[in-house]
Amino acid sequence: MKLTDLKFLLEFIKDKKAVGAVTPSSPALAREIVSHGNLSDASVVVEYGPGTGSFTAEILSRLNDGACFLTIEQNRTLAAHLRKRFPDLLLFEDSVENVPRIIESLGHTEVDCIISGLPWASFSPELQDRLLRPTLSVLRQGGTFCTFTYVQSPLLPSGRRFRKKLRKHFSEVFTSSIVWRNLPPAFVYQCIK
Ligand SMILES: C[S@@+](CC[C@H](N)C(=O)[O-])C[C@H]1O[C@@H](n2cnc3c(N)ncnc32)[C@H](O)[C@@H]1O
Repeated sequence: MKLTDLKFLLEFIKDKKAVGAVTPSSPALAREIVSHGNLSDASVVVEYGPGTGSFTAEILSRLNDGACFLTIEQNRTLAAHLRKRFPDLLLFEDSVENVPRIIESLGHTEVDCIISGLPWASFSPELQDRLLRPTLSVLRQGGTFCTFTYVQSPLLPSGRRFRKKLRKHFSEVFTSSIVWRNLPPAFVYQCIK
């Protein structure tokens, strides 16, 4: 097992609900989720819950020149890991709940794209709402919100509840095909405001 994966596993053991996965997402899932972010049209991009940076690397490779890219990670150990891996990354060690204040501190009023690594299906209904509300408030009309979920999540009440909320709050919600090369296999929701 790689040291990065071990670090991630230890953080999962400490806080299962917030970390939500035993291992970082695979490069295949990173390619899938980022490919749905419409990054070629984006000048302000936010990543939620980068963890050890699986999606971050893929986002950085596809960003427009001059785009503002910021990440929000609340886990102190994972944030420290990210700072080492990406010394130039704009990283806020904070909760996604504070995204409006964070983008305002950078002089922005809205965001074109949000790529989320948060484990929404493991959150309570209240927490899902508390994090979705600020998300919707900063995303511009027509902006893209991408998130992933594991194949089993539509079978769970919390996963079904989250999908229902996405359909309620976004004008369009697309589901990708299953990414089998991920543990567990997963798919992406691409949501357009
Ligand atoms: C399932 S892991 C995904 C990590 C990485 N994106 C990946 O796919 O490998 C979820 C990440 O979200 C972070 N997280 C959970 N709740 C958060 C919140 N409210 N604000 C910021 N980060 C959060 C966790 O600390 C963890 O790093």
